[in-house]
Amino acid sequence: MLNNKKIILGITGSIAAYKAAVLLRALIREGAEAQVVMTPAAKEFIAPLTLSTLSRKAVVSEFFAGKDGTWNSHVDLGLWADAMLIAPATASTIGKMANGIADNILITAYLSCKAPVLVAPAMDLDMYAHPATQLNLQRLRSYGNIIIEPAVGELASGLVGKGRMEEPEAILAALKGHFARRSELYGKKILVTAGPTFEKIDPVRFVGNFSSGKMGFAIAEGCAERGAEVTLIAGPVSLRTSHPGIRRINVGSANEMYAAAAEHFPASDAAILCAAVADYRPATIAGEKIKREEQTEMTLHLTANPDIAASLGAMKRNDQVIAGFALETGDGIPRASAKLKRKNLDFIVLNPANESDAGFGVDTNRITIIDSDGNRRDFPLKSKQDAATDIINELISRLP
Ligand code: PMT
Repeated sequence: MLNNKKIILGITGSIAAYKAAVLLRALIREGAEAQVVMTPAAKEFIAPLTLSTLSRKAVVSEFFAGKDGTWNSHVDLGLWADAMLIAPATASTIGKMANGIADNILITAYLSCKAPVLVAPAMDLDMYAHPATQLNLQRLRSYGNIIIEPAVGELASGLVGKGRMEEPEAILAALKGHFARRSELYGKKILVTAGPTFEKIDPVRFVGNFSSGKMGFAIAEGCAERGAEVTLIAGPVSLRTSHPGIRRINVGSANEMYAAAAEHFPASDAAILCAAVADYRPATIAGEKIKREEQTEMTLHLTANPDIAASLGAMKRNDQVIAGFALETGDGIPRASAKLKRKNLDFIVLNPANESDAGFGVDTNRITIIDSDGNRRDFPLKSKQDAATDIINELISRLP
């Protein structure tokens, strides 16, 4: 799993720095190429010579390599790496990472790093439990960094509690697990629809809904993180996508979304249809802005939009998987199950339309997955990212 992987091993000033030598040795044994980057304080705990001997590479710890004008490029380092692992990470380094305080080369490499970052904190129990540290860790999670939780045990202070850096074997397992997850969907093409559709009434007005795109974008990001080539067909939302594995196609109306989905589905291994597609659109679109002064009342004549999920369901081959969504009020199980059958889906994700912490707009969701055999799994309230992971796990279990 780690063969030929390029890893930046960041080491900071903690007594646990001695374990970094064991970790480094294991990385090299697994076939990884490791570049050690140390903070100045780390050098008080472990000699750079030990680390450069184990990694067979000079350790980087200063911005300038010598007094002759040569310098260490943190940007090149950030682009070179397949992953950055900071172990041990002190409270100070975690705080600097969270707030972008770039006063040493480890932090500048972190800020330039395009690859995933794993962080193994090491500190005293009270420092770890302090709200400032927890808030900083929360920030790092929100940046997509993976935190390898410290263990409970004896600490350098003599106290016993949570704060001890995980053992090198556990850190190595987390790194391998990360690469394993990233390759689960390698070579798979996944189509994702997200966001609302806007159906024009006239040049300035539309019929739409409250979908923010958050759920669908989390699914697209999650699939790309796990190695898939994602085509994201996005309705009008303000969200951005940054993952290089996502190709985004922006659409406005249900008809446009349908055309894009029908074009890209045949070459896809799976589709996850999360968009809140307008079921109806105005039968005619006024060419000019409808003027209020000329019309005190207005009746909209609506006509049905294409059902994208049902159309893809009808053209689905045996080697393709389709997941749909159902947004329901009240007991949605019978209605979601009926949609699953009618649209020929492999599974459907039911989420509530009338709860303040789930469904439209918010960052969390409460989902139930129902499959075509009638099996049902309820999940607790989670972030949309974690709900996306559950949905992607279900998809992976169904892919041929
Ligand atoms: O975007 P967020 O703010 O994060 O909110 C997420 C969400 C609530 C929009 C999302 O989780 C969700 O539930 N999406 C589906 C909403 C919906 O349209 O549900 P539905 O029960 O009306 O549709 C059933 C399925 O058919 C869906 O997969 C839908 O994409 C699809 N459909 C519906 C109508 C239509 N004309 N074409 C379709 O493909």
